[in-house]
Amino acid sequence: MDASITMTVDGREHTLTVDTRTTLLDVVRDHLNNWSPKKGCDHGQCGACTMLVDGRRVTTCLSLAVAQDGRDVVTAAGLADGDQLHPVQQAFIDQDAFQCGYCTPGQVCSAVGMLDEAGGADLSDDEIRERMSGNLCRCGAYVNIVAAVRQAADGAPDGRRS
Ligand code: FES
Ligand code: FES
Repeated sequence: MDASITMTVDGREHTLTVDTRTTLLDVVRDHLNNWSPKKGCDHGQCGACTMLVDGRRVTTCLSLAVAQDGRDVVTAAGLADGDQLHPVQQAFIDQDAFQCGYCTPGQVCSAVGMLDEAGGADLSDDEIRERMSGNLCRCGAYVNIVAAVRQAADGAPDGRRS
């Protein structure tokens, strides 16, 4: 069965007709040709597909697109403000927080959502690891990912551009 939905993705509104079984991840990648979010496991285990939905991080391979009608969706590609990278994106570059980079869009979205959830709390490295534990990195770049999240947290306490 098909359904019509309207949602905003990275600042652009889209009205789409989708099979009701289609995930948000597949709609964004296959219907909107936005390949920023990655499909790793397709089972909710790796976090590569993480996007922000109404500001909250969501594992989009487990989320049906029809449930997103009217929502605001942001992928890692939509976090920059023109040529100005989001502080979390910049921190991942500054700290070399990736190797192959496949997990990076999900890590970045998750970090932005996590820092917002933390509300400026002073997070220890262990707390950062725990709060980011839904995002796996096969390359094992965790040490630098923690450093990047810490840089973003210290530079902009709520994880957003000041
Ligand atoms: S692709 Fe969604 S959690 Fe792995
Ligand atoms: S940098 Fe390769 S999976 Fe994370």
